Amino acid sequence: MQMGRSSTDPEIKIVILSSADIPELRRLDLVCGLHPWSVESYSNLLSRADVIFLGLIDTRSRRGVVGFFLASDSGEELDILKIAVDPEFQGQGLGGELLGQGLQAGGQRGCRRCFLEVRISNQPAREFYSRNGFGVVALRKNYYTDPVEDALIMEKSLGFLSETPACSSRGKDVC
Ligand SMILES: CC(C)(COP(=O)(O)OP(=O)(O)OC[C@H]1O[C@@H](n2cnc3c(N)ncnc32)[C@H](O)[C@@H]1OP(=O)(O)O)[C@@H](O)C(=O)NCCC(=O)NCCS
Repeated sequence: MQMGRSSTDPEIKIVILSSADIPELRRLDLVCGLHPWSVESYSNLLSRADVIFLGLIDTRSRRGVVGFFLASDSGEELDILKIAVDPEFQGQGLGGELLGQGLQAGGQRGCRRCFLEVRISNQPAREFYSRNGFGVVALRKNYYTDPVEDALIMEKSLGFLSETPACSSRGKDVC
């Protein structure tokens, strides 16, 4: 299902992903340096009603999915499980738009706060989240494996989203 077009690049669509997209998600895990999840893990998540799974689709190429956002809602909390943008498409504002759409979807489900974990060494992601309104609330020692590393827990309030129209985190209309 299509949710809108990117205001950064009108040839990029923001869509709700399906199981047909799993091979592309696994490709993105690899090229983005994320821990690769199995087909089964992605299939299970896609079948869950509490999961928000959005993607960026490049309509110009056969590559298809060039970014994705994956989060689960547990009542008032939205937990970001993964966000990734293909390195060839990074630094153009697409990650911010995708994050904004995901947070908007969480706000519409009634989530009031969003949490995520990020590797302490992942400086680009930490800056990305900070620029998009997240603050560090805790440190979780040795949270990650392969390699073992601490995680920072970051949080953002979503209270304001339930009253605003769908828009990106940079304030542009993407629908
Ligand atoms: C984190 C990630 C999703 C960000 O995606 P992105 O598309 O590069 O994000 P954006 O383009 O919105 O923002 C990144 C930077 O690009 C620059 N930028 C944003 N919009 C821009 C524009 N219109 N023109 C030029 N540069 C722009 C900004 O400097 C921004 O810096 P900031 O992070 O300090 O805000 C991406 O870097 C990624 O996939 N990383 C690997 C996976 C990962 O670590 N994920 C997070 C942990 S699960």
